Amino acid sequence: MSRLRLLALVGVMIFGCATIALSETFEIPESVIMSPKQFEGYTPKKGDVTFNHMSHIDIPCQQCHHTVADTYTIESCMTAGCHDDIKVRTEISSVYRTFHTTHDKEKSCVGCHRELKRQGPSDAPLNCNSCHVQ
Ligand code: HEC
Ligand code: HEC
Ligand code: HEC
Repeated sequence: MSRLRLLALVGVMIFGCATIALSETFEIPESVIMSPKQFEGYTPKKGDVTFNHMSHIDIPCQQCHHTVADTYTIESCMTAGCHDDIKVRTEISSVYRTFHTTHDKEKSCVGCHRELKRQGPSDAPLNCNSCHVQ
C-alpha cells in the first residue's frame, strides 16, 4: 500500500469546549481498500471500495475516526466490536448501515455524498459502482 506521510495534529473536541491538541503523529494511508472479505463465509455482493484520504483532506480526522476522542487510536471501521455485522442492516453495528445511511451526514459515505449533491454540483460519487469498483 502506498502511504502518504503527513503530520497530523488532531484537535479533539472534548465536552464541546476544550480543544486538546493530540501530539500523536499518524501515518495516513493514501488509499485504503475496504472489503467484506474479512467476514468468514460471506459472499460479497459488490466489489471492494477504495477510500482515498486526499479526496477528504478538508474533513477533520475525528469526524470519521469518531472514536479517537475516547481511545486516542485510529482503527479500521469494521474492527471486531465496531461496525462488524455484515448481516443486519439496521443496527449501529451494521456494515451496510454504517456506510450507506442517509440519516448521518457527517460520517456515512453515502449520507455525506448525498447531502453534498443536495447542496449543489459535487464530485462525490453516489452510484453503487463508482464506489464498488468491480
Ligand atoms: C471522510 C472520512 C475520513 C476522514 C476525514 C479521515 N479518514 Fe482516515 N480512514 C477513513 C476510512 C474509511 C479508513 C479505512 C478504514 C477501514 O479500513 O475500515 C481510514 C483509515 C485510516 C487509517 C488506517 C487505520 C487502520 O488501521 O486501518 C489511518 C491511520 C487514518 N485513516 C488516519 C487519518 C487521519 C490522521 C485523518 C485526518 C488527517 C483521517 N484519517 C481522516 C476515513 C477517513
Ligand atoms: C463528510 C463528507 C464525506 C464523507 C463522510 C465521505 N466522503 Fe467521499 N467525498 C467527499 C467529498 C467532498 C468528495 C469530493 C472530493 C472532490 O472534489 O473530488 C468525495 C469523494 C469521494 C470519492 C471520489 C474521489 C476518489 O477519491 O475516488 C470516493 C470514491 C469517495 N468519496 C468515497 C468515500 C467513502 C468510501 C466514504 C466512507 C468510508 C466517504 N467517501 C465518506 C465527502 C465525504
Ligand atoms: C460512497 C461510497 C459507496 C456507495 C455510493 C455505495 N457503497 Fe456500498 N459500501 C461502501 C463501503 C465503504 C462498504 C463497506 C466495505 C465493503 O464492503 O467493500 C460498502 C458495503 C456494501 C455492501 C456489503 C458488502 C458486500 O459487498 O456485500 C453492500 C451489499 C453494498 N455496499 C451495496 C451497495 C449498493 C447496492 C449501492 C448502490 C445503491 C452502494 N453499496 C453504494 C461504500 C459505498
